[in-house]
Amino acid sequence: MMKEILFATNNQHKLREVREILGADYRLLSLNDVQLDVEIPETQDTLEGNAAQKAWFIYDRIGINCFADDTGLEIEALEGRPGVYSARYAGEGCSFDDNVQKILTEMTGLNNRRACFRTVVCLIVDGKEYLFEGRVDGVITTEREGAGGFGYDPVFRPDGQHQTFAAMPPYLKNGISHRGRAITKMVNWLKQK
Ligand code: IMP
Repeated sequence: MMKEILFATNNQHKLREVREILGADYRLLSLNDVQLDVEIPETQDTLEGNAAQKAWFIYDRIGINCFADDTGLEIEALEGRPGVYSARYAGEGCSFDDNVQKILTEMTGLNNRRACFRTVVCLIVDGKEYLFEGRVDGVITTEREGAGGFGYDPVFRPDGQHQTFAAMPPYLKNGISHRGRAITKMVNWLKQK
């Protein structure tokens, strides 16, 4: 029988990305597939804590092997902010562009523009927890560039590239992204298990 694993998300973009990496050995389920219509708590102050909190919340309710992810943008000159608060950095209900504007304003005149995206994936298999991390280092540009992607993509330029994430084609971003790297580590672990 084909193995099943549940991703604690309904984000179609993330589901597609993970399906591509997982390949044919696994059937990937989403929250919609198990009709779990609840707000998953995300109240920890680290990426690791949030990923684990989300994954255990699901596992405790339905007992299916599952995983959850949490991502943050960590800016050196801002002492790691926005970090675990990346989604709502400019306040409750803010837009992606509000968040971008807030970091550009906070970084005005700063020469150190180093930053990284970090994703932590927490996988629970048969009641045991495993963590996987993916990161990509780069710089925060001084102006927005590109119309693709989402979140902080218009102002993040990964090392070794001449474009921001928002300016590059999706296949290029997915090939080097934090989330892609964390998921690939998890999938490799699952395949050799
Ligand atoms: P999440 O944990 O994947 O929901 O990500 C939290 C927040 O980090 C998002 O709301 C975005 O603001 C930001 N973020 C996550 N992944 C990316 C990315 O690939 N590019 C740009 N911003 C991202």
